[in-house]
Amino acid sequence: MRRLITLENKDMKLFEVYSLLPFEPVKGDGSWIWDSDGNKYLDLYGGHAVISIGHQHRYQVQAMKDQLDKLTFYSNSVQNHLQEQLAEKLGKVSGYDTYNLFLVSSGAEANENALKLASFVTGRKKVIAFKKSFHGRTSGAVAITDNPKINSLFNQGHEVVFVPMNDTDAFDAALDNQTAAVILEGIQGVAGIHVPSNIFLQHISKKCKEKETLLILDEVQSGYGRSGKFFAHQHADIQPDLITMAKGMGNGFPIGGVLIHPDHKPFAGMLGTTFGGSHLACVAALAVLEVIERQNLMLNAQTVGTYIMEQLLAMNFSPSVRGLGLMIGFDVPDYQKNLRSDLITKHKIMTGEAKPNVIRLLPSLALSKQEADIFLQAMAQQLNPVAVA
Ligand SMILES: Cc1ncc(COP(=O)(O)O)c(C=O)c1O
Repeated sequence: MRRLITLENKDMKLFEVYSLLPFEPVKGDGSWIWDSDGNKYLDLYGGHAVISIGHQHRYQVQAMKDQLDKLTFYSNSVQNHLQEQLAEKLGKVSGYDTYNLFLVSSGAEANENALKLASFVTGRKKVIAFKKSFHGRTSGAVAITDNPKINSLFNQGHEVVFVPMNDTDAFDAALDNQTAAVILEGIQGVAGIHVPSNIFLQHISKKCKEKETLLILDEVQSGYGRSGKFFAHQHADIQPDLITMAKGMGNGFPIGGVLIHPDHKPFAGMLGTTFGGSHLACVAALAVLEVIERQNLMLNAQTVGTYIMEQLLAMNFSPSVRGLGLMIGFDVPDYQKNLRSDLITKHKIMTGEAKPNVIRLLPSLALSKQEADIFLQAMAQQLNPVAVA
């Protein structure tokens, strides 16, 4: 028998899983956003490392408008020259021109497909991931994420071993002939900006080759020029089997991808998606690459990022300023525990955070030195209000 359910308030509500900051951005331009009351904020968070070339970049907006007038979407059952153009451009700008590209719509989907591909290629299922990792929320991606709180019983059927980052002994002990893949972030982001050492990356790359295990670099947050190189692992001069990306790839338009070493061959139907590589997504992503190249944004990320880190270190408040390029984190001292909210409310500067006490800076790669100075002055004022006044 059907039961009649009477709701007091019949308006549908959102499923409240996010803790929201007390303002609503309604407009953006470059490194700046405006809220619904007209307040202007310096955006050093980029909507979680998504804004790569700057909010509402004129060139990208125009390219997307032009494509909207032609064709927004058609499925992957037809030819789409924009996907080929994107693959060619991405190969050139990233230095991975011999790799193949599979297009998806998000970071978790990219990782999910990379894991599946590694399992297809090796005929194995065990995965080695790292402590404090974050790889997304889909079944496989959350299973290789080191956070029991977001891992349901349903996700726990995967064979995953977590080892500490930069611990070669623990890694060697975990790696065996049953391991399909080793996956790690180019720079751990959600954990609070932890850069794996070059020696460790080179070690695991070598060991994976010996065991015929696929090495997957999750560059969803650290990729697309953010570290000063196209992918963060390129600082260590290694070449993974698979590289996943999303976030900065579309500068706000959802698109992700997996770069696949040419040794790993596809078969028809091996992977698939409805939305991945749509016409509009490809145009958005092509524009991002063109702007990164034309405006030399990787160099800017390196220069401005190094400048911010040097200045923060000179302020002597936190010994733990760390990162590469414009992916920067630092521990907030106890006496400054309201620093993030003070930066937002008093200085109108938006930053990211990582629990329990880390501030994360993930601005547009086009952030200027003058814009960086606005943040540094606010920091100086926060840390030493009397001296600054
Ligand atoms: C390193 C890393 N991988 C994967 C993801 C998941 O990406 P998405 O939220 O687009 O699924 C994130 C998101 O923060 C991430 O930081």
